[in-house]
Amino acid sequence: MGVLDEKVAIVTGSARGIGRATAELLSEHGAKVIINDLDADLAEQAASEIAGETAVYGGDLTKPGAPEALIETAVDAWGKVDIIVNNAGYTIDAPLHKMSDEAFQRMLDIHTIVPFRVVRAAAPHLREPAKAERDQGVEVFRKIVNVSSISGTMGNAGQANYSSGKAGVVGLTKTLAKEWGQFKINVNAVAFGWIETRLTASKDSGNTMQIDGQTVQLGIPDQMRSVASMVIPLGRPGTPEEAAGGVFFLCSPWSNFIHGQVLNITGGQFTGMTT
Ligand SMILES: NC(=O)c1ccc[n+]([C@@H]2O[C@H](COP(=O)([O-])OP(=O)(O)OC[C@H]3O[C@@H](n4cnc5c(N)ncnc54)[C@H](O)[C@@H]3O)[C@@H](O)[C@H]2O)c1
Repeated sequence: MGVLDEKVAIVTGSARGIGRATAELLSEHGAKVIINDLDADLAEQAASEIAGETAVYGGDLTKPGAPEALIETAVDAWGKVDIIVNNAGYTIDAPLHKMSDEAFQRMLDIHTIVPFRVVRAAAPHLREPAKAERDQGVEVFRKIVNVSSISGTMGNAGQANYSSGKAGVVGLTKTLAKEWGQFKINVNAVAFGWIETRLTASKDSGNTMQIDGQTVQLGIPDQMRSVASMVIPLGRPGTPEEAAGGVFFLCSPWSNFIHGQVLNITGGQFTGMTT
């Protein structure tokens, strides 16, 4: 028996990296999982490699209608939605004085607007059953976990666009927690520090992704990578599995009274401006 048996979870951007590790962990504990990714073939592959029940929505969530189609995939497959992890994301780094309008807008689109549209599309499937349960005097907790970053909560040079998008999703999280707490829908965020994925791998010529026919350079300079052990008290970056552990906690019944919070998953790294 798994703690998430019978739960239906959606994890965006789950073909690789932290999203994939999260989908695997949720599945391992009994959830049926929708795998989504911009890279549709890799999403299909990930779904086929995960042992439990999965379904796939391949597609770019910034496209019109995609968030609604994502939610419909879950409803068509299993009739409901219990858990949403808004994880899909990427970076387009540049110093602010060289940053284009497009690069700024793209980061707001994927990190703030897509999570908004996904939860709005899910609203009837989360709120209506909760109202019925409330009338019956039953408490059933549903979960939304939005993925932010300490770049959003503390700032990071070279990421004015990304940090704005990741700060925006924190505001969304706290407001939605106030609106949907009455329905026992826990809404929380995680702020990852430095997790070893292609986003933090070496910024070499092979580390790129394609979106809308454009090639985007991912990764961080080797000079910065070399300071990891000094700025992280635990002495190294986290693994995708360690990152997924925090998300899993916020999807589990052990977090039912944790609401509107940002959980730092950083190995203790706190380099930046705090409020
Ligand atoms: N790795 C880190 O250190 C770190 C730190 C802070 C926050 N984050 C955040 O964690 C999340 C996961 O990142 P990761 O490090 O696992 O990166 P990753 O590149 O390994 O995985 C992200 C996935 O999201 C997908 N994706 C991107 N844009 C999409 C779109 N428009 N529609 C659908 N899918 C899309 C990508 O194809 C990719 O498979 C992101 O939101 C990222 O910003 C990562």
